Amino acid sequence: MRHLWGLCLLLLLLLVSQGQDVKALPTAHLNQSCRITAAETATEPACSTQLNLRHIQLLKRYMRPELDACQDFYAYACGNWRSVHKMGESAMSLSGARIDQRYVELFERLLHVPRSTEHSLPLYEKLLRYYHSCRALGKPRLRRYLEQLPHIGGNHWADLLAVLGRYGYHEHYVKIEVSQHNASQHMIVVMPHNYYLNLSLSGSIYNALRRHTHGQLPSLKQLSEQFKQLEQTLQEMAQPPNGSSDEETVSTYTLEQLQQELPELNWTHVLHLQLGAIYPGSYQLLADDLPALRQLISYLNRADARLLQLYSWARVLQHLMQLPHNPLSNPQPSFSAGSAISCVQHMRKTLYLAMNFAYERNYYGKQRQADEHVIFGVFAELKQQFAQQLRLNVLGLNATLLDALLDKVQGLRINVGNLPRNVSDQFYEECVQHWRVGNDFYENHLNSLLHYYDHLAELERTEDAAMRQVWFSFNHHGPELLDNIDATPYFYCLGSIIIMPYAYMQLPLYESQFWPALLYGDLANTLGHEMLHSIDTYFVDYDAQGVMRDYSDQLVLNKNYLKAVNCLNDSEQVMLNERIADISGTRLALNTYMKDPLERRHNGRLYFVQFAQFFCGEEADIYHDTGSKRLNYALAQMPEFAEVFNCAPGTPMNPVSRCSFW
Ligand SMILES: *[C@@H]1O[C@H](CO)[C@@H](O)[C@H](O)[C@H]1NC(C)=O
Ligand SMILES: *[C@@H]1O[C@H](CO)[C@@H](O)[C@H](O)[C@H]1NC(C)=O
Ligand SMILES: *[C@@H]1O[C@H](CO)[C@@H](O)[C@H](O)[C@H]1NC(C)=O
Ligand SMILES: *[C@@H]1O[C@H](CO)[C@@H](O)[C@H](O)[C@H]1NC(C)=O
Ligand SMILES: *[C@@H]1O[C@H](CO)[C@@H](O)[C@H](O)[C@H]1NC(C)=O
Ligand SMILES: *[C@@H]1O[C@H](CO)[C@@H](O)[C@H](O)[C@H]1NC(C)=O
Ligand SMILES: *[C@@H]1O[C@H](CO)[C@@H](O)[C@H](O)[C@H]1NC(C)=O
Ligand SMILES: *[C@@H]1O[C@H](CO)[C@@H](O)[C@H](O)[C@H]1NC(C)=O
Ligand SMILES: [Zn+2]
Repeated sequence: MRHLWGLCLLLLLLLVSQGQDVKALPTAHLNQSCRITAAETATEPACSTQLNLRHIQLLKRYMRPELDACQDFYAYACGNWRSVHKMGESAMSLSGARIDQRYVELFERLLHVPRSTEHSLPLYEKLLRYYHSCRALGKPRLRRYLEQLPHIGGNHWADLLAVLGRYGYHEHYVKIEVSQHNASQHMIVVMPHNYYLNLSLSGSIYNALRRHTHGQLPSLKQLSEQFKQLEQTLQEMAQPPNGSSDEETVSTYTLEQLQQELPELNWTHVLHLQLGAIYPGSYQLLADDLPALRQLISYLNRADARLLQLYSWARVLQHLMQLPHNPLSNPQPSFSAGSAISCVQHMRKTLYLAMNFAYERNYYGKQRQADEHVIFGVFAELKQQFAQQLRLNVLGLNATLLDALLDKVQGLRINVGNLPRNVSDQFYEECVQHWRVGNDFYENHLNSLLHYYDHLAELERTEDAAMRQVWFSFNHHGPELLDNIDATPYFYCLGSIIIMPYAYMQLPLYESQFWPALLYGDLANTLGHEMLHSIDTYFVDYDAQGVMRDYSDQLVLNKNYLKAVNCLNDSEQVMLNERIADISGTRLALNTYMKDPLERRHNGRLYFVQFAQFFCGEEADIYHDTGSKRLNYALAQMPEFAEVFNCAPGTPMNPVSRCSFW
């Protein structure tokens, strides 16, 4: 399928180059002003010299200035990182850990100081009660989850599936979910289940089933065998037939049409059970692969209902345990109760909005204004610079296409902290009004899932324009979102928003009082990288409203464009869309900040060393190369780097030929 909604989110990153000695890191010219542009008014706070000098000392700690920056800039700028920090730690991961720690401090303080003003706010009361129930966890008791599920009459597979769907579970049999469609609309989507995912029936899941059924269960081995056979049958039905292409097969249907096409299920009933509303026959939804759905439903209607029920229970338990940061699946063997950190990490996933509100109110709020002033200023400069570059049209693109791309980049928004825009405290109080929190962790966990997915269903069907405007001004992260997607700045493709998480908004990556070389060294590169994701080879096809277009079909007809892509696409393993964002984002940041040769001479090295911080200690993941590869590759592409570090032609950081892109 072309429409990979879930993948329409990617991540951020950057690059670097060469040098001689650390004493050459200049500081003298940096502290005249922390203004962004000459046009800024005089209302800005003076930059703190002390803060900037302290930060430069920190940068020096990570460097190995005796190494040759022209050979391997990563080794030069980050060579000492590992002797200071543990394996797996990067600037971003350390920043994220600091945020977790602040939540722990907040909750522990509130638990011990019952007279804090926060106690008068229901949102804090609920967070605290949740936190408390998590901290009080003993040994995992998975059957507690099953006991909490509402009882429904009969045991038809589709009824149980719909009930589990209310908690966001939809991985087997038939998948019914609410999914974002474009920048201002969700849709109900019906499709065959994901047959790549199987159950692995663990002893703890089996025991939970056994207790829940009062022992009325085949042996673990027998049950595993029955489940395997079921999975095999379902897989054959859900799998596309041989020779079918992976063309887009999702289409729009009205509920009435769907009912006619797939009469063996009462869709009105199922949707009502899962989404809490009676949808009219004219209601539009998306469905994929009706023939497979027809086969699946027909088989399931005739299969052993008891087995289907047991399988559903087992799958939902597995799903709950696999949700990111479920404190019950903590891998430490000595684990017996929720640790403060694991509870906070769990709550940041499960109670995303309420947790962000608390962070804003207790920590971030006081610096927001100063930050936004600086960040929006740099962002506007970058956009202006990029528009200038794009209008030169060096690739010779069709003018209509060029305008469309320009519109997309100009239309990008930034959301610092990823909160809804322009809402009052009352908005949050109303949000949590129907969220129930008691003393039992299992009940709390399920109720918070219910709260999130009920809300999503309501958002999908609402005609309230004001509600839409608010809820589409940020990315309301769900409990399933993996850390590697939300822990760093990222380009949120469907909404065309660059999300700057709280973890980024602190030292060592960012500080509103940074001198320009430090400020642009990371911030401009990060924003540039995310901006360029909006037109990388992967995301270029979505317009500013998140609607799929044919832009890449047009682009590949252009020889210059193909040549530029191929130059960067130099091996099988290359993560091309990340490389494009790295190269073009770094180019854009340089063009914005380093136009002046004097600036390069005085502050260039500091700028590049600050740029390196993001990459120090960064491991590769499914989307990104290692920090060292990314940093060196990107900076080797920049002649300014070679100039600043006096790299001889032909050294690794000053190659004879370079690629260029946007
Ligand atoms: C700038 O920094 C230098 C030391 O690096 C210091 O002597 C000087 O006073 C600073 N100037 C201002 C205006 O802060
Ligand atoms: C978003 O999708 C909905 C449903 O298909 C459509 O009605 C709406 O026009 C789309 N929005 C934009 C901006 O294209
Ligand atoms: C899931 O189970 C089916 C049927 O047993 C099997 O063919 C498939 O390879 C399994 N998939 C994975 C990812 O294990
Ligand atoms: C589909 O292809 C696989 C291997 O390519 C083959 O083993 C199988 O028999 C084919 N199935 C059908 C229904 O043609
Ligand atoms: C389908 O379910 C709806 C809502 O539960 C009910 O009103 C309707 O009578 C059912 N239709 C059939 C054909 O059973
Ligand atoms: C640019 O492309 C559009 C749509 O593909 C086409 O209608 C238009 O004629 C083209 N313009 C030029 C100048 O080639
Ligand atoms: C939101 O607030 C900002 C700053 O206060 C203001 O510029 C903007 O117009 C507001 N947007 C809406 C939609 O009210
Ligand atoms: C990049 O190169 C690989 C082969 O090395 C190729 O499979 C892939 O299609 C190329 N990507 C693009 C966008 O050209
Ligand atoms: Zn990226």
